[in-house]
Amino acid sequence: MKHEICKVADIPQTGSLIAPFFGREVHVWRSGERIRAAANACLHFGGPLDCKDGALVCQWHGARFDMESGERIEGPAPKGSRLMFLSTRVEDGALNYVWGE
Ligand code: FES
Repeated sequence: MKHEICKVADIPQTGSLIAPFFGREVHVWRSGERIRAAANACLHFGGPLDCKDGALVCQWHGARFDMESGERIEGPAPKGSRLMFLSTRVEDGALNYVWGE
């Protein structure tokens, strides 16, 4: 099954796009040739993330996450925690969340 997140053309070349996702939000960004999507939720207490200086940074207590690997760089999120990436597929110019395939 699939659910459209956004149009590929709307994803900026730098930084991220925040798209609605089943009543929540996801960050969508370009990482080289790949497009990545991750829940806009910190792995500490679920705070919202900003895209800053090439990282996703929590607005609440400052945890930073690497946009390539998703891994926590610093801050109070647990060591070894990682952004919640979505499984996605590009189809007909749109980025889709896919599951159950
Ligand atoms: S909720 Fe993100 S660092 Fe605390």
